[in-house]
Amino acid sequence: MLGDWVSQAIDMINADAIAIHLNPAQEVFQPEGEPWFRGVIDKLRFIKKVANRPLIVKEVGNGISMEVARMLASKVGPDAIDVAGTGGTSFIRIESIRAGTMSEADVFNGWGGIPTAISICEVRSVYDGVVIASGGVRSGLDGAKAIAIGANAFSMSRPLLLAALKGYDETKRFIGRLLKEFRIAMFLTGSKNINDLSKAPIVFGPAIISWLSQRGIQCRHIRHGK
Ligand SMILES: Cc1cc2nc3c(=O)[nH]c(=O)nc-3n(C[C@H](O)[C@H](O)[C@H](O)COP(=O)(O)O)c2cc1C
Repeated sequence: MLGDWVSQAIDMINADAIAIHLNPAQEVFQPEGEPWFRGVIDKLRFIKKVANRPLIVKEVGNGISMEVARMLASKVGPDAIDVAGTGGTSFIRIESIRAGTMSEADVFNGWGGIPTAISICEVRSVYDGVVIASGGVRSGLDGAKAIAIGANAFSMSRPLLLAALKGYDETKRFIGRLLKEFRIAMFLTGSKNINDLSKAPIVFGPAIISWLSQRGIQCRHIRHGK
């Protein structure tokens, strides 16, 4: 049955890849949520086998930890991990607003999750595949920073959704602006290509340094001494 769903979803849009989200925080606070994650690793491995397409595993705005990335890397082997960290759209906040009255989601409204920049470092420290940065990415400059700290690509949901609601031209204009911002960041860091950008010098603020040191994680640049 799971195999049929996967094939149908792929055929529906002739998909080039399949993305599966791990969204426990959203499911647990959704009135109609389904927080049933037992066996998820076996299911992901099965999907990778039957989909015959690259598999992306992602969060939806709470970040992927080093432990989850390590488990995915060793037991599933996804082609990409999209960190979808905190800093942008928050489904805990959305569920809290939807619930209207005081709910458990209110209590967890300040639940940190893993900020996107940190989640990139967490995932990158244990996973050599493609890392996609998302969650609060709002400009080409944000995207360039994400690549400099270890991501291979960046994506965004809310800003593109807002642009898309205004139509095709606005979406095209928005993407054009993003690309321009990204190219300016490359120019200003003397990066001729993405590889150069991924080796650009980086300086972290104290909050990120504290987090990474408590977690025993070194960002790839520090680890490789670049
Ligand atoms: C309206 C809306 C619907 C979303 N639906 C999905 C979904 O079906 N599957 C999914 O993996 N993520 C979904 N997301 C989460 C996004 O993929 C993304 O991880 C999250 O919004 C953080 O990125 P952002 O800060 O750029 O919005 C949705 C986001 C929004 C705003």
